[in-house]
Amino acid sequence: MTQSDKAQIDQKQISLLWAGPETANEIAQIQIQMQDLNWGEDEIRTLLANPCSNSLLVKIRLNPENPPLTAGYIMGRLIGEEVEILAIGVLEPFQKFGLGRSLVEGLTRAAKRAEAKKMFLEVACDNEPALSLYSKLGFEETGRRQDYYKRADGTKVDAVTMTRTF
Ligand SMILES: CC(C)(COP(=O)(O)OP(=O)(O)OC[C@H]1O[C@@H](n2cnc3c(N)ncnc32)[C@H](O)[C@@H]1OP(=O)(O)O)[C@@H](O)C(=O)NCCC(=O)NCCS
Repeated sequence: MTQSDKAQIDQKQISLLWAGPETANEIAQIQIQMQDLNWGEDEIRTLLANPCSNSLLVKIRLNPENPPLTAGYIMGRLIGEEVEILAIGVLEPFQKFGLGRSLVEGLTRAAKRAEAKKMFLEVACDNEPALSLYSKLGFEETGRRQDYYKRADGTKVDAVTMTRTF
């Protein structure tokens, strides 16, 4: 993707699709490319096949001749009246175009249709892009787990629990 492609992205080129178990490979590939999470395709497929799964892909069609590219995903789980965001990721070339926001808002719409009352997640306390995204969408810090995440270099980072009620 070139800078001129970036400049041309607009909302009409973006679509949100339901992520069923058949999309496990796409999500696994995104996780591998992002070097963020690496749950493995089988684990992702199991999560997506669960009836509690509320998960979406975001696709971008950069030009009409080519098929849309999968640019990101969100995986959620609806249990009772609560939705947990298990993972979200937008590939680096497509970041900062509103796709992360679209994914959370899309999941929120699905959650409200299912009469959920609350959405929550855990995020590393130093993940500024994610903290900012969630704050802007009305999530508030409701808890903290000290030294919850262990980084490859051995350092530990707190997990922040963020919650939004509908
Ligand atoms: C967090 C993430 C999903 C955001 O996706 P995105 O498509 O870039 O986000 P958007 O373009 O929709 O941005 C929405 C808001 O997020 C925040 N944000 C996004 N990127 C940011 C950055 N690099 N620095 C600071 N804030 C940022 C901003 O508040 C932004 O609002 P604005 O456009 O009004 O400034 C993306 O950075 C990502 O995939 N990160 C790696 C995986 C990850 O950390 N997942 C979260 C684990 S809980």
